[in-house]
Amino acid sequence: MTAPVDIRGLTRSFGGPAILDNIDLTIAAGEFVVLLGRSGSGKSTLLRVLAGLDDAPARQLRLPDRRSVVFQEPRLMPWKTVIDNITLGIRRRDSRLIAAQALADVGLSHRQNAWPLTLSGGEAQRAALARALVREPELLLLDEPFAALDALTRLRMHGLVFDLWRKHRPSVLLVTHDIGEAIALADRILVLDEGRFTREIRVLLDHPRRRSAPEASRIEAELLSELGVDPSHA
Ligand SMILES: Nc1ncnc2c1ncn2[C@@H]1O[C@H](COP(=O)(O)OP(=O)(O)O)[C@@H](O)[C@H]1O
Ligand SMILES: [Mg+2]
Repeated sequence: MTAPVDIRGLTRSFGGPAILDNIDLTIAAGEFVVLLGRSGSGKSTLLRVLAGLDDAPARQLRLPDRRSVVFQEPRLMPWKTVIDNITLGIRRRDSRLIAAQALADVGLSHRQNAWPLTLSGGEAQRAALARALVREPELLLLDEPFAALDALTRLRMHGLVFDLWRKHRPSVLLVTHDIGEAIALADRILVLDEGRFTREIRVLLDHPRRRSAPEASRIEAELLSELGVDPSHA
Protein backbone atom coordinates (compact mmCIF):
# COMPACT_ATOMS: atom_id res chain seq x y z
CA MET A 1 0.00 0.00 0.00
CA THR A 2 1.35 3.46 -0.84
CA ALA A 3 1.94 5.73 2.13
CA PRO A 4 -0.40 8.75 2.28
CA VAL A 5 2.57 10.93 3.20
CA ASP A 6 5.69 10.42 1.13
CA ILE A 7 8.14 13.29 0.99
CA ARG A 8 11.57 13.18 -0.58
CA GLY A 9 14.33 15.72 -0.59
CA LEU A 10 12.48 18.53 1.18
CA THR A 11 14.56 21.63 1.85
CA ARG A 12 13.57 24.92 3.48
CA SER A 13 15.70 27.87 4.41
CA PHE A 14 14.94 31.46 5.29
CA GLY A 15 18.08 33.01 3.84
CA GLY A 16 20.50 31.39 6.30
CA PRO A 17 21.40 27.72 6.76
CA ALA A 18 18.71 25.20 5.78
CA ILE A 19 16.13 24.67 8.53
CA LEU A 20 15.03 21.51 6.72
CA ASP A 21 17.94 20.00 4.84
CA ASN A 22 16.97 17.48 2.17
CA ILE A 23 14.52 15.63 4.41
CA ASP A 24 12.68 12.39 3.60
CA LEU A 25 9.49 11.57 5.51
CA THR A 26 6.98 8.76 5.05
CA ILE A 27 3.90 8.29 7.21
CA ALA A 28 1.81 5.15 6.79
CA ALA A 29 -2.00 5.09 6.78
CA GLY A 30 -3.19 5.32 10.37
CA GLU A 31 0.31 5.77 11.77
CA PHE A 32 0.90 8.09 14.74
CA VAL A 33 4.22 9.89 14.35
CA VAL A 34 5.57 12.30 16.96
CA LEU A 35 8.15 14.90 16.02
CA LEU A 36 10.45 16.06 18.80
CA GLY A 37 13.12 18.71 18.71
CA ARG A 38 14.51 21.71 20.46
CA SER A 39 12.80 25.06 20.11
CA GLY A 40 13.76 26.54 16.74
CA SER A 41 14.73 23.19 15.22
CA GLY A 42 12.17 23.53 12.42
CA LYS A 43 9.27 21.41 13.69
CA SER A 44 6.61 24.00 12.87
CA THR A 45 8.28 24.72 9.55
CA LEU A 46 7.91 21.06 8.58
CA LEU A 47 4.32 20.91 9.84
CA ARG A 48 3.42 24.03 7.84
CA VAL A 49 4.76 22.45 4.66
CA LEU A 50 2.65 19.33 5.33
CA ALA A 51 -0.37 21.52 5.98
CA GLY A 52 0.15 23.35 2.68
CA LEU A 53 0.69 26.64 4.53
CA ASP A 54 4.25 27.02 3.26
CA ASP A 55 5.92 26.26 -0.04
CA ALA A 56 9.24 24.52 -0.01
CA PRO A 57 11.15 22.78 -2.78
CA ALA A 58 11.10 18.99 -2.70
CA ARG A 59 11.85 16.21 -5.15
CA GLN A 60 8.57 14.62 -4.17
CA LEU A 61 5.72 15.85 -2.02
CA ARG A 62 2.92 13.34 -1.81
CA LEU A 63 0.22 14.34 0.66
CA PRO A 64 -3.43 13.38 1.12
CA ASP A 65 -6.04 15.94 0.06
CA ARG A 66 -7.86 16.00 3.39
CA ARG A 67 -5.58 17.48 6.02
CA SER A 68 -6.44 19.29 9.27
CA VAL A 69 -4.26 21.27 11.64
CA VAL A 70 -4.55 22.08 15.33
CA PHE A 71 -2.19 24.70 16.74
CA GLN A 72 -1.15 25.61 20.26
CA GLU A 73 -3.83 28.32 20.29
CA PRO A 74 -7.35 27.12 19.48
CA ARG A 75 -7.93 29.88 16.87
CA LEU A 76 -11.70 29.93 17.32
CA MET A 77 -13.73 32.85 15.96
CA PRO A 78 -14.89 34.68 19.12
CA TRP A 79 -18.04 36.05 17.46
CA LYS A 80 -19.34 32.59 16.53
CA THR A 81 -20.69 29.96 18.90
CA VAL A 82 -18.72 26.76 19.37
CA ILE A 83 -20.86 24.76 16.95
CA ASP A 84 -20.76 27.54 14.35
CA ASN A 85 -16.96 27.43 14.60
CA ILE A 86 -17.09 23.72 13.85
CA THR A 87 -19.39 24.01 10.82
CA LEU A 88 -17.46 26.97 9.38
CA GLY A 89 -16.58 26.32 5.75
CA ILE A 90 -18.28 22.91 5.64
CA ARG A 91 -20.61 22.67 2.69
CA ARG A 92 -22.78 19.72 3.58
CA ARG A 93 -26.49 19.76 4.29
CA ASP A 94 -25.93 17.76 7.45
CA SER A 95 -23.09 19.97 8.69
CA ARG A 96 -24.79 20.73 12.03
CA LEU A 97 -25.41 17.07 12.62
CA ILE A 98 -21.82 16.03 12.00
CA ALA A 99 -20.54 19.02 14.00
CA ALA A 100 -22.72 17.97 16.94
CA GLN A 101 -21.34 14.44 16.58
CA ALA A 102 -17.75 15.77 16.55
CA LEU A 103 -18.47 17.82 19.68
CA ALA A 104 -19.88 14.70 21.35
CA ASP A 105 -16.70 12.83 20.38
CA VAL A 106 -14.57 15.36 22.26
CA GLY A 107 -16.98 15.51 25.24
CA LEU A 108 -18.19 19.04 24.52
CA SER A 109 -21.89 18.57 23.68
CA HIS A 110 -22.94 20.68 26.64
CA ARG A 111 -20.90 23.64 25.33
CA GLN A 112 -22.07 23.64 21.72
CA ASN A 113 -23.90 26.97 21.98
CA ALA A 114 -21.28 28.62 24.20
CA TRP A 115 -19.09 31.54 23.12
CA PRO A 116 -15.44 30.62 22.67
CA LEU A 117 -14.24 33.18 25.21
CA THR A 118 -16.21 31.42 27.95
CA LEU A 119 -14.37 28.11 27.40
CA SER A 120 -11.50 26.86 29.54
CA GLY A 121 -8.18 26.24 27.78
CA GLY A 122 -8.83 22.51 27.65
CA GLU A 123 -12.38 22.99 26.32
CA ALA A 124 -11.15 25.36 23.62
CA GLN A 125 -8.58 22.80 22.47
CA ARG A 126 -11.31 20.14 22.44
CA ALA A 127 -13.32 22.42 20.16
CA ALA A 128 -10.26 22.89 17.94
CA LEU A 129 -9.91 19.09 17.76
CA ALA A 130 -13.59 18.71 16.87
CA ARG A 131 -13.18 21.31 14.11
CA ALA A 132 -10.20 19.37 12.74
CA LEU A 133 -11.93 15.97 12.89
CA VAL A 134 -15.22 17.03 11.34
CA ARG A 135 -13.34 17.31 8.05
CA GLU A 136 -12.48 13.60 8.32
CA PRO A 137 -8.80 14.23 7.67
CA GLU A 138 -6.57 11.52 6.29
CA LEU A 139 -3.70 13.44 7.88
CA LEU A 140 -4.11 15.19 11.23
CA LEU A 141 -1.37 17.72 12.01
CA LEU A 142 -0.96 18.82 15.63
CA ASP A 143 1.54 21.57 16.49
CA GLU A 144 2.11 21.51 20.26
CA PRO A 145 -1.66 21.48 20.82
CA PHE A 146 -1.42 20.89 24.58
CA ALA A 147 1.61 23.01 25.41
CA ALA A 148 -0.44 25.80 26.99
CA LEU A 149 -2.55 23.49 29.17
CA ASP A 150 -1.92 22.56 32.80
CA ALA A 151 -0.38 19.14 33.45
CA LEU A 152 -3.58 17.37 34.48
CA THR A 153 -5.60 18.70 31.53
CA ARG A 154 -2.72 17.74 29.25
CA LEU A 155 -2.84 14.13 30.46
CA ARG A 156 -6.60 14.02 29.85
CA MET A 157 -6.04 15.38 26.35
CA HIS A 158 -3.53 12.61 25.63
CA GLY A 159 -6.24 10.08 26.44
CA LEU A 160 -8.76 11.92 24.28
CA VAL A 161 -6.44 12.21 21.28
CA PHE A 162 -5.58 8.56 21.58
CA ASP A 163 -9.27 7.55 21.65
CA LEU A 164 -10.07 9.83 18.69
CA TRP A 165 -7.16 8.43 16.72
CA ARG A 166 -8.33 4.86 17.46
CA LYS A 167 -11.82 5.72 16.31
CA HIS A 168 -11.04 7.71 13.14
CA ARG A 169 -7.62 6.30 12.27
CA PRO A 170 -6.06 9.27 10.46
CA SER A 171 -2.32 9.41 9.98
CA VAL A 172 -1.04 11.81 12.65
CA LEU A 173 1.98 14.06 12.92
CA LEU A 174 2.15 15.51 16.42
CA VAL A 175 4.81 18.12 17.17
CA THR A 176 5.82 18.45 20.80
CA HIS A 177 8.80 19.04 23.03
CA ASP A 178 7.28 16.85 25.76
CA ILE A 179 9.07 13.50 25.82
CA GLY A 180 6.36 11.92 28.02
CA GLU A 181 3.73 12.93 25.47
CA ALA A 182 5.78 11.37 22.69
CA ILE A 183 6.17 8.06 24.54
CA ALA A 184 2.50 7.99 25.58
CA LEU A 185 1.18 8.37 22.04
CA ALA A 186 3.67 7.57 19.29
CA ASP A 187 4.02 4.56 17.06
CA ARG A 188 7.22 6.22 15.93
CA ILE A 189 9.23 9.14 17.28
CA LEU A 190 11.45 11.35 15.10
CA VAL A 191 13.95 13.84 16.46
CA LEU A 192 14.71 16.87 14.29
CA ASP A 193 17.98 18.73 14.76
CA GLU A 194 19.95 21.03 12.49
CA GLY A 195 17.78 20.29 9.51
CA ARG A 196 17.89 16.48 9.75
CA PHE A 197 16.22 13.63 11.55
CA THR A 198 18.85 12.55 14.04
CA ARG A 199 16.89 9.73 15.68
CA GLU A 200 14.00 7.44 14.81
CA ILE A 201 12.46 5.25 17.50
CA ARG A 202 9.62 2.79 17.07
CA VAL A 203 7.52 2.50 20.21
CA LEU A 204 6.08 -0.99 20.39
CA LEU A 205 4.52 -0.74 23.85
CA ASP A 206 0.85 -1.62 24.38
CA HIS A 207 -1.69 1.01 25.38
CA PRO A 208 -2.35 2.48 27.87
CA ARG A 209 1.36 2.97 28.43
CA ARG A 210 2.98 3.25 31.81
CA ARG A 211 5.86 5.65 32.01
CA SER A 212 7.53 3.38 34.54
CA ALA A 213 7.65 0.39 32.16
CA PRO A 214 11.32 -0.53 31.55
CA GLU A 215 11.05 -0.01 27.78
CA ALA A 216 9.43 3.42 28.30
CA SER A 217 12.24 4.42 30.69
CA ARG A 218 14.84 3.25 28.20
CA ILE A 219 13.29 5.31 25.39
CA GLU A 220 12.98 8.31 27.69
CA ALA A 221 16.68 8.12 28.59
CA GLU A 222 17.60 7.80 24.91
CA LEU A 223 15.54 10.87 24.01
CA LEU A 224 16.84 12.93 26.92
CA SER A 225 20.38 12.28 25.83
CA GLU A 226 19.53 12.92 22.15
CA LEU A 227 17.98 16.26 23.07
CA GLY A 228 20.97 17.14 25.22
CA VAL A 229 19.17 16.98 28.57
CA ASP A 230 21.03 15.46 31.49
CA PRO A 231 18.56 12.83 32.84
CA SER A 232 19.40 13.77 36.43
CA HIS A 233 18.08 17.28 35.73
CA ALA A 234 14.96 16.30 33.81
N1 LIG B 1 8.63 32.75 8.08
C1 LIG B 1 9.88 32.71 8.60
N2 LIG B 1 10.80 33.64 8.25
C2 LIG B 1 12.04 33.59 8.75
N3 LIG B 1 12.49 32.65 9.60
C3 LIG B 1 11.64 31.71 9.98
C4 LIG B 1 10.28 31.69 9.51
N4 LIG B 1 9.66 30.62 10.06
C5 LIG B 1 10.58 30.01 10.86
N5 LIG B 1 11.76 30.67 10.81
C6 LIG B 1 12.98 30.27 11.52
O1 LIG B 1 13.19 28.88 11.30
C7 LIG B 1 13.67 28.26 12.47
C8 LIG B 1 12.75 27.12 12.84
O2 LIG B 1 11.51 27.64 13.29
P1 LIG B 1 10.30 26.71 13.71
O3 LIG B 1 10.01 25.78 12.60
O4 LIG B 1 9.20 27.61 14.15
O5 LIG B 1 10.93 25.92 14.94
P2 LIG B 1 10.20 25.02 16.06
O6 LIG B 1 8.76 24.86 15.70
O7 LIG B 1 10.96 23.73 16.06
O8 LIG B 1 10.41 25.73 17.36
C9 LIG B 1 13.76 29.34 13.53
O9 LIG B 1 15.09 29.80 13.57
C10 LIG B 1 12.85 30.42 13.01
O10 LIG B 1 13.27 31.68 13.44
MG1 LIG C 1 7.02 25.38 16.69
